[in-house]
Amino acid sequence: MQWFALPLLFVSGSLAQLTGWGDCPTVTSMTDFVPASYMGLWYESYRTVAIFEAGAVCVTATYTLNDNGTVTVENSAKSVLLGSSSITGLATIVGDSDNGILSVKFSSLPFVASYQVLDTDYTNWASVFSCTKFGLFNLQFYWVLTRAQSPLTSILDEAFAVYTTNGLKTKYLAQTNQTGC
Ligand SMILES: *[C@@H]1O[C@H](CO)[C@@H](O)[C@H](O)[C@H]1NC(C)=O
Ligand SMILES: *[C@@H]1O[C@H](CO)[C@@H](O)[C@H](O)[C@H]1NC(C)=O
Repeated sequence: MQWFALPLLFVSGSLAQLTGWGDCPTVTSMTDFVPASYMGLWYESYRTVAIFEAGAVCVTATYTLNDNGTVTVENSAKSVLLGSSSITGLATIVGDSDNGILSVKFSSLPFVASYQVLDTDYTNWASVFSCTKFGLFNLQFYWVLTRAQSPLTSILDEAFAVYTTNGLKTKYLAQTNQTGC
């Protein structure tokens, strides 16, 4: 996932379609999220439109549940500019553990990011949403995570439908290159 790209948002003028005025859109939280079932390796199949063209490929996220209820997050990626890279952060479950809402802090970044699992079947797909309000506008990210590196179209369709149900537009999603990893 593109947490490491976040600082670049502020020097990029190309994100108009991912920003909105005012408050973050209202989305429906899960009511039965099971953190333990969500752990392990996920491949980033789609994400909101690339922030910079030399974008990261082969992106994965690995989640590990800690004894104290936090979640260790390790994101890995390859890119033309950086080669292989990874970043580790700590996620904290916000509110009820079954609503799928977390906040993630990476030690190398000066802010906490929101991270909401809109829905997941745990074994095939997860539809993740993040929105942060900055003054008068908000920044939104979507990530479609899959357990398979090359998921079936039917699995992606299930994940995409979750955004549509929440009034979010899947046209903002772009496929992450997971070939030749
Ligand atoms: C919870 O455990 C993780 C992993 O051991 C650790 O990094 C983190 O600081 C702990 N957090 C709290 C609040 O104890
Ligand atoms: C995906 O990345 C591989 C190298 O990892 C590259 O050979 C291939 O051309 C890329 N595909 C697309 C569609 O960009």
